[in-house]
Amino acid sequence: MKVISVVGARPNFMKVAPFIHNINKNNKELIAKGQEPIAHILVHTGQHYDDRMSKAFFKALNIPDADINLGIGSGTHAEQVGLSMIELEKVFIRENPDWVVIYGDVNATMAATVTAKKLHIKVCHVEAGLRSGDMKMPEEINRLVTDCLSDLLLVPDRLSIENLKKEGVSELKIKFVGNIMIDTLEENREKASALSIENIIKENQIVTRHESPITNHQRFALMTLHRPSNVDDENVLKALTHFIMDEVSKEVPVIWSIHPRTEKQLKAFGLWDRLILSENIYLVHPLDYHSMLKLNMQASIMLTDSGGLQEECTVLGTPCLTMRWNTERPITLREHGGASVLVGNNIERIRKEFFDTLQQERKPERPELWDGNTAKRCLDAILDYRSE
Ligand code: UD1
Repeated sequence: MKVISVVGARPNFMKVAPFIHNINKNNKELIAKGQEPIAHILVHTGQHYDDRMSKAFFKALNIPDADINLGIGSGTHAEQVGLSMIELEKVFIRENPDWVVIYGDVNATMAATVTAKKLHIKVCHVEAGLRSGDMKMPEEINRLVTDCLSDLLLVPDRLSIENLKKEGVSELKIKFVGNIMIDTLEENREKASALSIENIIKENQIVTRHESPITNHQRFALMTLHRPSNVDDENVLKALTHFIMDEVSKEVPVIWSIHPRTEKQLKAFGLWDRLILSENIYLVHPLDYHSMLKLNMQASIMLTDSGGLQEECTVLGTPCLTMRWNTERPITLREHGGASVLVGNNIERIRKEFFDTLQQERKPERPELWDGNTAKRCLDAILDYRSE
């Protein structure tokens, strides 16, 4: 059997890692039995290309170098998807795989799905069935297109099964496998735990600060922001940044991991110069996997618009304010037992929840099948697949 995995952006990397490790493990058993191993080809579209956004994750998570890098780089959505499709078509025709496996909801996910289906290649979607209902989110369009074309839909939770059934997807195509990102979290917990927060800040800070950095025992807030809805609108980004500088950092030190898009916008809107001089705010470059995990394990509160961090906060129990009005991951919300609450980007609402949430204790939760064994169930689902 020949399988091609297609990845493109940072959130794909922690999902493909356990899948590849599982294929390697399975291949050892097949070879020992004298059987043909699975041939796996890793294709990176090159959407994320900075070392900190891509290479660092391959290294830290023991992902082999991509067999093929399409080098598409940044651009508009149509440019990213269009260029990826043109290049992926050549790869798929040349390699003629039995399966194309795609992860999550980034542009590479949709580009690979459409290209593979038009060549009559079977598609397996890992992390299928998530829906935010927000058609202004590029990822929601990627999810809808991907799920309606995929042959095998591997879902992280039971709510996602219902979403797919409502859209008329045959139940025979859906398999409940759990959350593959939690496999990566469990595999790397111990290594992350041994890191020092002081060193993480020192090694990653954007501006050298002379006051003593946060130690492993201190309280702090951890923050990330990258959604276009939060960082591309000047009024929204201004209000959020002022709230962090004028209120949050007066309560607790803030570690803010800055996404390249956010850095660009903070500079464009004239917010950067004051932010980098703000006391009690530590601006750091995009962090490697273990550093982020360590900070998440110790943070008193997370402020984020990332879906993946919402999930990790649920398992680690970090009280989390999700700076969005909706989520495709309702299982991470407090009403479903998770650690997160939706606060959108309205400062009144964020302020109220921030002060309430800061008082909360950590409360780790483990949604059904978020047990570290999802990659095995994904591979088994592909191996057991029988078309209708
Ligand atoms: C992409 C995903 C999003 C995911 C996010 C995680 C889609 C539609 N979006 O959004 O779902 O949550 O990744 O980061 O696929 N840039 C660099 N270096 C890089 C990559 C990007 O400087 O390595 C800059 C570019 O100027 C680019 C901007 O960041 O224009 C945004 O990058 P882009 O790939 O368009 O989307 P993300 O916002 O990262």
